[in-house]
Amino acid sequence: MKHFARVTTLAAALLSASLITGTVHAQLAPSAQPAAAPATAPAEARKANIVIIGTGGTIAGAGASAINTAAYQSAVVPVDKIIASVPEVSKVANVKGEQIFQIGSESFNNERLLKLGKRVSELLKQPDVDGIVITHGTDTIEETAYFLNLTLKSDKPVVVVGSMRPGTALGADGALNLYDAVLVASNPTSRGKGTLVVLNDEIHTGRDVTKSNTFKTETFRSAFGPLGYVVEGRSQYYRLPARPHTVQTEWDIDKIDKLPEVAVVYAYGNVNPASIDAAVKSGAKAIVYAATGNGSVGDYMVEPLKAARAKGVQIVRASRTGSGVVIRNAEQPDDKYDWIVTDDQMPQKARILMALALTKTNDSKALQQVFWKY
Ligand code: DGL
Repeated sequence: MKHFARVTTLAAALLSASLITGTVHAQLAPSAQPAAAPATAPAEARKANIVIIGTGGTIAGAGASAINTAAYQSAVVPVDKIIASVPEVSKVANVKGEQIFQIGSESFNNERLLKLGKRVSELLKQPDVDGIVITHGTDTIEETAYFLNLTLKSDKPVVVVGSMRPGTALGADGALNLYDAVLVASNPTSRGKGTLVVLNDEIHTGRDVTKSNTFKTETFRSAFGPLGYVVEGRSQYYRLPARPHTVQTEWDIDKIDKLPEVAVVYAYGNVNPASIDAAVKSGAKAIVYAATGNGSVGDYMVEPLKAARAKGVQIVRASRTGSGVVIRNAEQPDDKYDWIVTDDQMPQKARILMALALTKTNDSKALQQVFWKY
């Protein structure tokens, strides 16, 4: 297995050379760990080979002092140094780091999403790769995870992981999250469950997970709950994703070179109708209207949305509430206006699904079925 450096050696070298991670994850220093594996740890036949792709975010962040849990610089620690700071991962997997970006996740755009997806796909095809972990900023982790969940053509586990606190902070969560992510990616029972997001002891499906708080470590939630937990070196599932993903979908990352422009327009009292026209003029092929409540649309916004539809732009009614379904023909006559409703998907994730759907069809009825299916 010449591609996979054993982390124990790498960790020693990088830890001694590291300027940034000198204080990182001190609470997880090897000497502080019990010598024996937890009694609940599964007995693996062989260690899995896991590639850890670094993209930046807080898990690669560093603050000026240990009390900087929420004000710090993200995306500065290279992925190899992050790996080296958590030597426990080498006990569960042979890991290899690869830096693809060093950015805050708010800087992800379609080009970066496609580049990441294509690289993950390439790695998943290698017979000596058992799974992938992607370190990522938490702000848009749900969009990347949903995109990969819909476009990767492999059963192998892909786990996206981040942290809410930089490694330099008191109570830093990145080390345990990374360890847990590697555990999940190494666990054969993670195969066939789509792209997963692991943080705060929980395993979420990329479809459902969303960030719900700006600073707390307990920020990720799925409307229907996590798929499972990671506790004491053991990952355990309790339910399965219901909607099609990865090998079951109609999109293949290897065949997508460009994503159509889809705009999200956020509704509020006194929303400016010109925002719809601006989206149309900027070349949007669809507008996800992050409407109030059950996708309700202000009386003065109906005509601009109808005008956009008349120009061929698809209109998707979503909700800014953060949960629940938008019911077709309830708040607005979708059949009459030829609009689409998002089902339960958040506006930012409806944007991903719509962009993918538009690579296959521009038929509004078919697009509606896509929203109800995925
Ligand atoms: N700028 C944010 C990002 O990369 C940092 C927040 C985080 O990673 O938790 O998403």
